[in-house]
Amino acid sequence: MLETIEWKDDRALMLDQRKLPWAETYYTCRNYRDVSEAIKKMVIRGAPAIGIAAAMGMALGAKAIRARKMDTFLRELDRIGDYMKASRPTAVNLAWAVDRMTALAHSLGGRPVEEIPPALAQEAQRMLREDVAVNKKIGRYGQEVVPQDSTVLTHCNAGALATGGYGTALGVVRAAVEAGKNVRVLADETRPFLQGARLTVWELIKDSIPATLIPDNAAGSLMRKGEVQVVVVGADRIAANGDVANKIGTYSVAVLAKENNIPFYVAAPLSTIDLSLPDGDRIPIEERGSEEVSSVFGKVIAPEGVVTRNPAFDVTPNRYVAGIITEKGIARAPYTESLKKLFDKQGS
Ligand code: MRU
Repeated sequence: MLETIEWKDDRALMLDQRKLPWAETYYTCRNYRDVSEAIKKMVIRGAPAIGIAAAMGMALGAKAIRARKMDTFLRELDRIGDYMKASRPTAVNLAWAVDRMTALAHSLGGRPVEEIPPALAQEAQRMLREDVAVNKKIGRYGQEVVPQDSTVLTHCNAGALATGGYGTALGVVRAAVEAGKNVRVLADETRPFLQGARLTVWELIKDSIPATLIPDNAAGSLMRKGEVQVVVVGADRIAANGDVANKIGTYSVAVLAKENNIPFYVAAPLSTIDLSLPDGDRIPIEERGSEEVSSVFGKVIAPEGVVTRNPAFDVTPNRYVAGIITEKGIARAPYTESLKKLFDKQGS
């Protein structure tokens, strides 16, 4: 099986998602700067996957620290953590993973310094395994909202490639198929980076799940014709009130779903929920380079000097969200209470 990310011989290996679906090649990260670069350049992408990558980056960073005094070592590790966090701003899983790694290192402050790098390498691999287990739980809860004989519309890629494996939104689809349901997926192509065209249908075809690729601007019309029964997407950050930041275009899909009385669900692990932000207006939205808009894979498609905007994410207000599917169950409005309750269930 192709892995999205793995730890091998003290290196982080990532399936290079910039090259899919044309080539299946691995990108090797030997140090934390390589990992940060891989996240920035979208070698690896998707909120949970970049969290796992950042954790591996922290393990690589720890291994290279020369300081033998614990307080100097931890200060240097914290600096590496800040560097990793700056790789991409929107997906909170990245900061969550870095904080988990630095907290572990600080908790080992009474041990010899040499013990920290192997402990962090173990922790990053544990995070990878945990993520797959969490996604399977999300799938088990989420498949209940997928009707028998239905079409699920999804946006971007919230699949195995965006996570440690199995996926969040696509995990819901996989679990529905495993439960014996006859399910098809309509995948938005997801301009400008084409995660839907290049990644979502690629992994669904590999799993023999029926998938149909559509241009982003076909979604509304197909919803109106009754061709979509449910929408399931992933998330990069969910505020305490249930506002959801996800790939640009998600908001339009949510509004169209409401207009057409189609339930719009968000599937995400608790590590994507940021209770420190009361609402979605405070979620930092990454703006990416102009060339992603003015060209398609190196071919310029707009007049030279054209002015572009390229916000990579948008925020869907909670009133459009039928439910947030997590590994602890499905939260429903009012989200300020229901999301908090899921956190109180943590560890239970
Ligand atoms: O820019 P990307 O490809 O990292 O954006 C990914 C998304 O928006 C996903 O929907 C989200 O991270 C959830 S992945 C399980």
